[in-house]
Amino acid sequence: MTPFVQPPQPLALYGPEFAADPQGHYRRLREHGPLAPVRLAPGIDALLVTDYQAAVDLLRDTHTFTKDPRAWQATVPDDSPVLPMLGYRPTALFSDGHVHARYRDAINDSLALIEPHVLRAEVARVAQRLIGEFSATGSGDLISQYARRLPLHVFVTWFGVPPGDGERIVNGIAGMFNSTENAATAYADLVEVVTELVADRRTRPRRDLTSYLLGHPANLDNDETVRQITLIMSAGHDPTTNLIGNALLHMLTDARYAGSLHGGAMTAHEAIDEVLWQDPPLANLAAHYPRHDTEFHGVRLRAGQLLLVSYAAANSRSEPSRSDLAVRSGASAHLAWSAGPHRCPAKQPALLIAMTAIEQLTSQLCDAELAVPAGDLKWRPGPFHRALVRLPVRFTPVDMSAEAHRLRSAGEAADGPPAVSIGP
Ligand code: HEM
Repeated sequence: MTPFVQPPQPLALYGPEFAADPQGHYRRLREHGPLAPVRLAPGIDALLVTDYQAAVDLLRDTHTFTKDPRAWQATVPDDSPVLPMLGYRPTALFSDGHVHARYRDAINDSLALIEPHVLRAEVARVAQRLIGEFSATGSGDLISQYARRLPLHVFVTWFGVPPGDGERIVNGIAGMFNSTENAATAYADLVEVVTELVADRRTRPRRDLTSYLLGHPANLDNDETVRQITLIMSAGHDPTTNLIGNALLHMLTDARYAGSLHGGAMTAHEAIDEVLWQDPPLANLAAHYPRHDTEFHGVRLRAGQLLLVSYAAANSRSEPSRSDLAVRSGASAHLAWSAGPHRCPAKQPALLIAMTAIEQLTSQLCDAELAVPAGDLKWRPGPFHRALVRLPVRFTPVDMSAEAHRLRSAGEAADGPPAVSIGP
């Protein structure tokens, strides 16, 4: 049997060097073969799967690998900044088999209540309102003024979050993903907001997904409900923001789009698809742990050791091997939504939100162009995501105040019904 090999220097996937050049890091990691040693934070090492076929095999092999991190977690300091992302909670993401199925059914049934045409209309309405808030100035930051706020509105509406708590939610999620020293406090604040919401809906149900989850046949207790909602919000908000941001950057910098949103040669759909292949918002995740000592793609693994899948590296190999090409024979076979039992359950609504957001922006601010050289853009720290700090643009000012007023009035009138249909 192959001996246990731990190469001397795991490559750090945190800090400014990784954020500035993830693809360069993936190239170096591939030199180790399908699995390579990485460091996620000081003292926290993992093996990263960078090969497409190995990634698919890992994601589908529930006999050899578990999603339950507790054995690994016992070896990690309690204050490690990666624990808000990787530490155990009773959710779909950290469970297997029938436990996973129970949580996943509740999540799937909730997401099935989302009416696509209602969601599209709601996203378009909010998009126009947000654009109207800065369109007259001729400049803006498409991350803080648009891509972060738009999906936040969706989650707040779906779950019936009180208006004042939106910022706490978005900051809590961002802190988790950044995985710096503030991560634990950020996650705790997110959980606190959702705990208050769940306690309220337990006694005063309304027409929102929080109330729906509490009444679901899975019979979730309060803590389980809090944890599924926190999972849906965190797995959903940051990646959707980053899908919008990365696709807009792609349109603003790729020569085929002529450096502005007006290029017209490619659609929002194509930009999103290319980003999902080349720069997926969830770059490295899918934490798995061998149930026993084993051999996988030529590497010996110890029971309980941490493996992550690099969706970004597995997707973007510059010279695909024959087996890669065979697996990729369908154009939608990238791994940005993962694969296997834990694949993203919200691909359709996430695509709809991102597509509508980009279409609205390109139709309203059609000559928007980057306000700084692309090389000066900064990316957020953290091993798990691919996320711009800011996306500053300039454009010909557009006065949308009359439209904004109309939308505000329409929005006030429409504040009652949620963007989900929850039966009679
Ligand atoms: C409406 C927005 C979204 C929601 C509500 C959502 C929700 C979720 C949930 C609940 C899971 C856990 C599934 C399980 O463990 O069984 C998940 C997983 C996942 N989602 Fe999404 N998601 C959203 C958007 C996105 C976006 C935009 C992306 C990236 C393109 C994405 C990629 C993934 C991936 C890769 C996983 C697997 C996580 C892992 O690696 O462990 N999701 N999502």
